[in-house]
Amino acid sequence: MNISLNAPAYVRHEGLKKWVAEIAAKAKPASIVWCDGSEEEYNRLCAEMVQSGMLHKLNAEKRPNSYLARSSPDDVARVEDRTFICSENEADAGPTNNWIAPSEMRTKLDTLFDGAMAGRTMYVIPFSMGPLGSPIAQIGIELSDSPYVVVNMKMMTRMGKKVFDVLGDKGEFVPCIHTVGAPLAAGQKDSVWPCNETKYIVHFPETREIWSYGSGYGGNALLGKKCFALRIASNMGRSESSETSPGWLAEHMLILGVEAPWGKKYHVAAAFPSACGKTNFAMLIPPAGMAQQGWKITTIGDDIAWIKPDASGNLRAINPEAGYFGVAPGTNKSSNFNCMATLSQDTIFTNVALTDEGDVWWEGMTKVPPAHAIDWQGRDWTPELAKEKGVKAAHPNARFTVAATQNPVLDPEWDNPEGVVIDAFIFGGRRSTTVPLVTEARDWAEGVYMAATMGSETTAAAAGQLGVVRRDPFAMLPFCGYNMAEYFSHWLELGEHLEGSGAKLPKIFCVNWFRTDEDGKFVWPGFSENTRVLKWMLERIEGEAKGSEHVFGITPGYEDLDWNGMDFSIEKFNTITSIDAQAWRKEFELHAELFERLAHGLPDALIKIKASFETRLG
Ligand code: GTP
Ligand code: SPV
Ligand code: MN
Repeated sequence: MNISLNAPAYVRHEGLKKWVAEIAAKAKPASIVWCDGSEEEYNRLCAEMVQSGMLHKLNAEKRPNSYLARSSPDDVARVEDRTFICSENEADAGPTNNWIAPSEMRTKLDTLFDGAMAGRTMYVIPFSMGPLGSPIAQIGIELSDSPYVVVNMKMMTRMGKKVFDVLGDKGEFVPCIHTVGAPLAAGQKDSVWPCNETKYIVHFPETREIWSYGSGYGGNALLGKKCFALRIASNMGRSESSETSPGWLAEHMLILGVEAPWGKKYHVAAAFPSACGKTNFAMLIPPAGMAQQGWKITTIGDDIAWIKPDASGNLRAINPEAGYFGVAPGTNKSSNFNCMATLSQDTIFTNVALTDEGDVWWEGMTKVPPAHAIDWQGRDWTPELAKEKGVKAAHPNARFTVAATQNPVLDPEWDNPEGVVIDAFIFGGRRSTTVPLVTEARDWAEGVYMAATMGSETTAAAAGQLGVVRRDPFAMLPFCGYNMAEYFSHWLELGEHLEGSGAKLPKIFCVNWFRTDEDGKFVWPGFSENTRVLKWMLERIEGEAKGSEHVFGITPGYEDLDWNGMDFSIEKFNTITSIDAQAWRKEFELHAELFERLAHGLPDALIKIKASFETRLG
């Protein structure tokens, strides 16, 4: 087979060209297109997808330059059971990752990728995670046969021809190979959302390669995101730790800036599992009274943070992404006004409903639903159908893709290549019971314990059962690219290293916005009101706020939070802050289960902390 490589003259990297030719020879696409990242290219691909039916153009008056995609009904979320970490040794992947020996996996991929792109265009997508040329940034090249991936990558990363300037003729890049796994025979009509029942999302941590087969959706296909920026980057960060350097961290965290009325600006990084509130927290609007006092919150990132110590021992964080791939359902003008403003134009929506006016709708977007819409599977939908049969207009994991620059509260430092100094870490799960609204860890190690043992109810962001409590250490269970026990050590050692060099470590807090009452309703109103909890944390950092100490750390009393402009009774407050010893004894059994699973390499410090917590609990 003779397919032209078509490489533009500005691509001078022979190794890269050789690799592209090799993959093309294997996957046998009909043609190769090198993406330049231009507006023209974006518009052309969108127009082609409108032609093929993959995208639907929305009403340009209501939602300028925006599109709707409907995925195949069995390609709607990350597939954790099809995600693999193929390290040379199984122990390096650890018990929480799926592992297959690299040689066996390579044989498998060889067969799967043989001719996988037949009849399709293979796009070469150059991208930078982090500001182009920043010392923290990393380059990736994704080869994909999906134009949907190309336009999403343009918004989610710094994508395009400038990347080749940084790459030069022998720069390093992470090779990312993606196919929807649906070869087209000559003359065969394409489906609107091609994909394959068989799916493999594969990482080779030692050679830093990503191979993705069979899915066109989100984290399975936009390989800069979870595959690179978390699974591969977590390996990079740890492998750079040595006697003299603590290495760095790749985390499933939002980063926000917060200006306090006392004239100081703070930066906070927060890890919540998928669909547990990162995007919303990152775009928080302080309640009116607090805004008047001078509280202001700005977004640096909404999903991923790369965090490195600087020469003075401060932890500096960058957002490696350039856009948001966020959860649509539940988003509305009162829960997240900034997000709705961000989505007002130039947005790609996936699996939301289409209104009769040619705009989008999803559950929770407006109090009154439209009288009729086309649901995410292209079928007629009415509120009656929802009431009678529980049919959803939008898929619960419906998403929007939008450039960060459209966010009205984007932090001016959001693409500072140096990053911002982190003052506090927050960890939070979705727990209807047991876990209090907020707890401050007494020290770094106890904070690491709380993050490591965090539980959360599963959400629609991943395929599988919903609402089941599982341990999700650091909100990284599906994203840590190596042994989770060693990941805990990496965090502990980083803390020790920085403390040893005299640096002041960020405080660690744990939160839970999701406690429910007997009727299953959230007790805490969340969203905007979360600013009150954030305020308490910052006052704790300044030594200005009180709290009471309990088994796990420090929690505010009713009088320690600012209730100005909010009506929330002390009784309600007690139901979301109380610690039920019985429930916590059960919780510790779950910690024990996790520790047993991770026994190999589990740091002693965590075992000791567990024992001391249990003694305190009695
Ligand atoms: P990923 O993009 O999957 O990593 O999710 P995320 O962590 O960014 O979650 P996101 O902010 O998109 O929120 C997910 C869901 O939780 C949405 O339906 C939100 O409306 C809801 N949510 C977010 N914050 C809160 C909160 O404070 N309280 C309550 N009750 N719901 C919230
Ligand atoms: C998540 O699931 O945590 C997401 C969406 O942010 S995805 O890009 O699919 O990973
Ligand atoms: Mn996420």
